[in-house]
Amino acid sequence: MGRVLGGMAEVRSEGPWIHTDDGRRLLDFGGYGVFILGHRHPAVVAAVHRQIDLHPLASRVFLEPVAARAAQALAAHTPPGLDFVHFVNSGAEATEAALKLARAHGRNAIVTTRKGFHGKTLGALSVTANTTYQAPFQPLLPDTTQVAYGDAADLKQALAARRDRACVIVEPVQGEGGVHIPEPGYLTEVTALCREFGALLVVDEIQTGLGRLGTWWGVDAEGVRPDMLLVGKGLSGGVVPVAAMVATAEAYAPFSRDPYLHTSTFGASPIACAAALAAVRTMEREDTVARAAGLGARILAGVRETCAPYREILVQDVRGRGLLVGIEFTEERAVGELLLELIARGVLVNHSLNSTRVLRLTPPAVVEDTALDLFFSTLAEALHVTAAHMAG
Ligand SMILES: Cc1ncc(COP(=O)(O)O)c(C=O)c1O
Repeated sequence: MGRVLGGMAEVRSEGPWIHTDDGRRLLDFGGYGVFILGHRHPAVVAAVHRQIDLHPLASRVFLEPVAARAAQALAAHTPPGLDFVHFVNSGAEATEAALKLARAHGRNAIVTTRKGFHGKTLGALSVTANTTYQAPFQPLLPDTTQVAYGDAADLKQALAARRDRACVIVEPVQGEGGVHIPEPGYLTEVTALCREFGALLVVDEIQTGLGRLGTWWGVDAEGVRPDMLLVGKGLSGGVVPVAAMVATAEAYAPFSRDPYLHTSTFGASPIACAAALAAVRTMEREDTVARAAGLGARILAGVRETCAPYREILVQDVRGRGLLVGIEFTEERAVGELLLELIARGVLVNHSLNSTRVLRLTPPAVVEDTALDLFFSTLAEALHVTAAHMAG
């Protein structure tokens, strides 16, 4: 990537903007879903500065109030009953914590969805359904099964064969899988099937949570309550890496009984928790979730309109919920071409790790109208040039 982009380096950021070493400024509609509050939100930066001056890392011997306050703030927004917050340092570690907790309950048969993405550490990779990333590291966790995403009947079959020993992990909308939005009712059916067959349910909201879909959580759309909810990316406030596995009391019981069963030196550090606490408080104060819903609807409509002349020839589908938008192309090559054309014109977007024909937009909720206009005009230009290249 470095070579393709001419060795350009990113050195500074604020709000929706990233600055490069050669003096350019790019509008960041990428960031793999991290920057719902933009880069370096002042409230998060101030909280982290204060924490650095006070007590950035803890002894892990005494009680530590910042982790407690961050857990309380987060749990105030998770679905009822999901109150046990286990902070970790990355999304993949949140998946690891969930998989280990499931195993502690004897739920050793893991059911994941095709094109699902849950991280790349060994356990998480076992449920990240992409052979490109898995093949060099086989064998991974035994007894993992993939079912079709959005297909409750397929899940039912898998669970019927694994009664009382399965754990299901699923995203409310597949992000890296190419912004796949299941039919309404899917999560309700998944939850009911898990109850029927005695499976634990882990909903991975690392990308979809914290307002990304225009609701606090993807599960809010159907009011379902999983046994574990995974949170990451935006929890950082765009400042300090932090993620969490949030569980019900019942699900968390093995870790409650023995807190040393699953530990990490830097997990729940005061500096990371200061960022998480400030991120949640900022979202409350700035009504980020409602903003994401409003802005997301405008962006989806605008992208659809901009892509309309290229439908069928180049663009197969435009879909999204909140601030997670995918443009599916008829050919894989168009994604790379458009990405480079956009970057050349000052707009940053992402491809999708598990779906090579889908370009993904994950803009922050703090985009001003002028920046939005710039985005649409740049997209129109870049599409025009890409379509010409592809035709030639
Ligand atoms: C749904 C989902 N789960 C897990 C992860 C892994 O998170 P991390 O890259 O922080 O390990 C990601 C990252 O893209 C993700 O989108």
